[in-house]
Amino acid sequence: MASKLELKDLIRPDNFIDGKWVAAASGKRFGVTNPATGEVIADVADSGEADARAATDAAARAFPAWRDALPKERAAVLHRWHDLMMENADALGRLISLEQGKPFAEGRGEVLYGASYVKWFADEATRIYGDIIPQQQRGKRMTAVKEPVGIVAAITPWNFPLAMIARKIAPALAAGCTVVGKPAEDTPLTALALVLLAHEAGVPPGVLNLIAASRENAVSAVASWLHDSRVRKITFTGSTPVGKYLARESAETLKKLSLELGGNAPFIVFDDADLDAAVTGLLVSKFRNGGQTCVCPNRVYVQSGVYEKFGDMLAKRVAALKVAPATDPDAQIGPMINARAIDKIVRHVDDAVAQGARVLAGGKRLTALGPNYYAPTVLADATSAMQLSCEETFGPVVPLFRFDDEAEALRAANDTPFGLASYFYSQDIRRIDRVSRGLEAGIVGINEGALASEAAPFGGVKESGYGREGSKYGLDDYLSIKYLCQGGLE
Ligand code: SIN
Repeated sequence: MASKLELKDLIRPDNFIDGKWVAAASGKRFGVTNPATGEVIADVADSGEADARAATDAAARAFPAWRDALPKERAAVLHRWHDLMMENADALGRLISLEQGKPFAEGRGEVLYGASYVKWFADEATRIYGDIIPQQQRGKRMTAVKEPVGIVAAITPWNFPLAMIARKIAPALAAGCTVVGKPAEDTPLTALALVLLAHEAGVPPGVLNLIAASRENAVSAVASWLHDSRVRKITFTGSTPVGKYLARESAETLKKLSLELGGNAPFIVFDDADLDAAVTGLLVSKFRNGGQTCVCPNRVYVQSGVYEKFGDMLAKRVAALKVAPATDPDAQIGPMINARAIDKIVRHVDDAVAQGARVLAGGKRLTALGPNYYAPTVLADATSAMQLSCEETFGPVVPLFRFDDEAEALRAANDTPFGLASYFYSQDIRRIDRVSRGLEAGIVGINEGALASEAAPFGGVKESGYGREGSKYGLDDYLSIKYLCQGGLE
């Protein structure tokens, strides 16, 4: 197979189990649609329990040899996979745009983002150190070594169809684990394309297995992994209710869990902020993927002294954003993923307006473009009684809340069960220290809206989950520590 592929060559509608493309055991299929038009792109295998079990069987057979491969051998395979992703960045970017809807520049950017994790963990594979424990008793040598946890089940969302699965598979393979995975039903094609490239890169049969399933069948497919004691870890990115379900259902076999769950990110603008920088930072963080990321600011708190000015500055920039299909080279915001997403946005904006919010920009669907488009929106006079203050909108809507002092801003920011990302803008160094310590979140952006990096630990606190992805900490979630105590050495 050529290493540089066309978009059509990347579309694989079957499951990938034990190094082979196979239909679902039931023979069922479901349609994956383009959110911009509603057209079916491909009919994909609709898997159930039997397919999930076949994937686990393959992963179990492949585990001993992959675990025992030299770290530099695993690293070489991951480096080849990274290189293939980079060579095919345009076609992969187009596939992401096609099934997820984000503009091509963002789709291609996601390929580079996902590939950066693969490269990072390829390098980390060769740095899995243990410890020699300083001697405590004569005649005994005590060491701690790190071992792969075993089979990992990766369950991933639709908002970053490539990056989210790449940053789970890469550390798992680097650590010596084998993988079974299921991408979201809205966007399985990118993940299947990634597996095609992984196979081409030399990932051995059974080491990486991926099944697709419709919304209806996903529960029974995943249940097979939750209850199978051979699966030693679940890594999941998605909603908090689903994360809690996975934790509850897998408890019987006590698996290791990494849960990257919902956020309800606060973004605080203090009177002493550089307002131009704050507006730019908010645009970057809020409108990435049209507001469909779990680190997008969901509640923007602006101090009274700059409230009106900030609202005007922001509304002008937001009204100028170009909403268009991914195929338009000037598109900055594409369609939302599906009708459920649009319904939630409409419900949040209608509720806010009914409770007195003022629309400074947008505030409506853009039905002339297609069924799933919503205008980028700024709402002033938001209050904590509104639905959008306690639920993640996951769309291009910025509600502006007013506050008077720092303590009030911190209280409001932390008044949520979630704790993933948070942001604030201030030029006062003492305040920067106080607020960054006071925010209950796994990630804090200080005068910065773009936080994503493969070198940084990504993850939350409270009901945003646990575990970290990326960085030097990211491998730990795929490893367990074994203590060796050797006696009789006197
Ligand atoms: C997410 O939305 O779950 C991830 C966003 C990111 O990687 O920055």
